[in-house]
Amino acid sequence: MCVMACVAPVAGSVSVAAAEPVPVYRNAAVPVEERIDDLLSRMTTREKVLQLNQFYIGTNNNVNNIGEVVNGIPAEVGSLIYFDGDPALRNAMQRRAVEESRLGIPILFGYDVIHGFRTVYPTSLAQACSWNPALVSEACAVAAQEARQSGVDWTFSPMIDVARDPRWGRVVEGYGEDPYVNGVFGAASVRGYQGDNIADSLKVAACLKHYVAYGASEAGRDYVYTEVSPQTLWDTYLLPYQMCVEAGAQTLMSSFNDISGTPGTANHYTLTEVLKDMWGHDGFVVSDWDAVKQLVAQGNAADMKEAALHAFNAGVEMDMMSYAYDHHLEELIAEGKVSPQRLDDAVRRVLRIKMRLGLFENPYTPEVPDRFLRPASRVTAGRLAAESMVLLKNDSTATLPLKEVSKIAVIGPLAKSKADMLGSWHCHGNPDDVTTLYEGIMNEYGNGAEVRYALGVDKDGDDTSGIAEAVEAAAWADVVILHLGEDYRWGGENASRSTIALPAIQEKLAEAVAGTGKPVVLVLSNGRPLDLSRLEPHANAILEAWQPGVNGGDAMAGILSGRINPSGKLAITFPYSTGQIPIYYNRRPTARPFDRQGLYQDITSEPLYPFGHGLSYTTFEYGTPKADRIDFVADDTIEITIPVTNTGDLTGDETVLWFINDPYSSITRPVKELKYFEKKHLSPGETAEYTFRIDPMRDLAMVDGTGRRILEPGEYRVLVADKVLTLNYKGEKLSR
Ligand code: NOJ
Repeated sequence: MCVMACVAPVAGSVSVAAAEPVPVYRNAAVPVEERIDDLLSRMTTREKVLQLNQFYIGTNNNVNNIGEVVNGIPAEVGSLIYFDGDPALRNAMQRRAVEESRLGIPILFGYDVIHGFRTVYPTSLAQACSWNPALVSEACAVAAQEARQSGVDWTFSPMIDVARDPRWGRVVEGYGEDPYVNGVFGAASVRGYQGDNIADSLKVAACLKHYVAYGASEAGRDYVYTEVSPQTLWDTYLLPYQMCVEAGAQTLMSSFNDISGTPGTANHYTLTEVLKDMWGHDGFVVSDWDAVKQLVAQGNAADMKEAALHAFNAGVEMDMMSYAYDHHLEELIAEGKVSPQRLDDAVRRVLRIKMRLGLFENPYTPEVPDRFLRPASRVTAGRLAAESMVLLKNDSTATLPLKEVSKIAVIGPLAKSKADMLGSWHCHGNPDDVTTLYEGIMNEYGNGAEVRYALGVDKDGDDTSGIAEAVEAAAWADVVILHLGEDYRWGGENASRSTIALPAIQEKLAEAVAGTGKPVVLVLSNGRPLDLSRLEPHANAILEAWQPGVNGGDAMAGILSGRINPSGKLAITFPYSTGQIPIYYNRRPTARPFDRQGLYQDITSEPLYPFGHGLSYTTFEYGTPKADRIDFVADDTIEITIPVTNTGDLTGDETVLWFINDPYSSITRPVKELKYFEKKHLSPGETAEYTFRIDPMRDLAMVDGTGRRILEPGEYRVLVADKVLTLNYKGEKLSR
């Protein structure tokens, strides 16, 4: 049968012939599941298998994605990773699928749109420090608009891997060390990408990754084994996924890591029993790049065929780039090792997302000439950059905001670096779009102050020849703004580092510049927490500016000048030194919390900057928290409020973090766990009331190693700033 004859009139530019009846699967008025039933009944096994494969098209610019050049992509392929930035190539390929394949099934085009498409905004780790999920949704909506209008229907984002080892390069891609924070920001980003309807031409489907526990990578190395007990899996790693599945995320990506003996890509428990059976997820799971084949390297499968069998039957519907499904699924079906039901369920899941995206009705991407870097999009990127930045230190002389400065020395290897402001995975970001710190300072002070720049040293290496010029500039200036940090390639995939200190040459520059006695404001751009133990003493103030994206320069300068009052707080602990790793706030209690037992003998056991740390130019005073009840039953909502007053002279934003602690229970609990946060804008003298509405089964109950939530009788503490409020559950032990 000729596809042209059976294609019904549809929206967009699909060519049609009117005479034949419209096949049910092409009729948008018919419910999706019925359309899929019809389509499945028409498909051959080969056509079904092809829907479960993802290849790529365009230029592959990611060194970690080692693939061969694609020659002659089959028109029936399920999905393509779209490396191109314009719709033309997509449309040409899509035309082949829609007009030249027997059934005309459109291809789903995916790409890593991680923190912006062309309008690059701060990295995810930075975003989490803004504590402003609504703003993150806004930024993700910009990314979705630019992506969809460029030919991308599906982003491989958000990454919600809880990460507690900053040696791991991918720590920059997630929302830090806390499960709840990852869940909240992941869900915000899903909402921004997907909106209410992914068929909208400004929206894309989201993909939660990397499912699951990839962040537990041993010693911070990438792709390696992870030791994760069932309790830790549920306590730490599954929560954000559950929250984001509930937020409607359409797809997930399976992880590379071996989870205590069963790799994420062959893990029936996580992929099927938890995701599909317990949580009812009806979208599909794509493997990570080559991950199906890599089951052989991991010792999970004897060969590629067995790898295909394990991954597919475990619950991975789409094979990204390993060709294992392409080469072996039909054979496995013929041998009865893969059931026809499993095959149809997998294809149904893929087709469901294509239908929800409206690809059958609108397979092509129209050309929109002004789709990038719209003024409003840049404003969003700039606001998020400013809110992400964390003022780590401002010494007793309150160096910041800068007052009465007429001579400014801007020094350091990051101050004029555009590419490094984009961070890793910067998609189609272009360094030419970036405002650097130097440019930001010129914009901020151009007319009112004299600015001198000196590179000083490179990011790494041993060339100290520029230090003398930097010292001269520092000696001349009223204040030194020293911009240090990481090359953007030191973060992201396959970018583990054995130490989280900056290279010694940067520390040497800081020491030399500080030697002039001039006030030093250290600005940092990096993708991971740093060991600042040697740098901190040289700086009067420290601003963690992260890799802030296209409008970072003005945001940094605005904070330094006081035009913007910093409001970021750390979503990840800054260890005192690499030797403290892993260090995170929600650890379980020690057996000897007294007499300084169990501590390091050579260094402090406290982090340099803890989770939640962040200074403001104003001051906030917390009042007494009040609960509407102390004794509660499981179905109560307990309302706790706390008044917070801006007691300083400047307007500022304050985020209140609400933690809980269960001091005694049948499964031990962390010393504190974040359950809610809220950010508010306060004028000088203003008092705002912050409210935490506790749902006991959600916020006070614990989870066990099977995912059951258990509420036990006894005391629960609510911790807010330095205040504690104790609640009491006198009912029966409950589990749901
Ligand atoms: C490998 C990475 O682990 C993953 O995050 C990414 O989405 C894919 N490659 C596709 O680029």
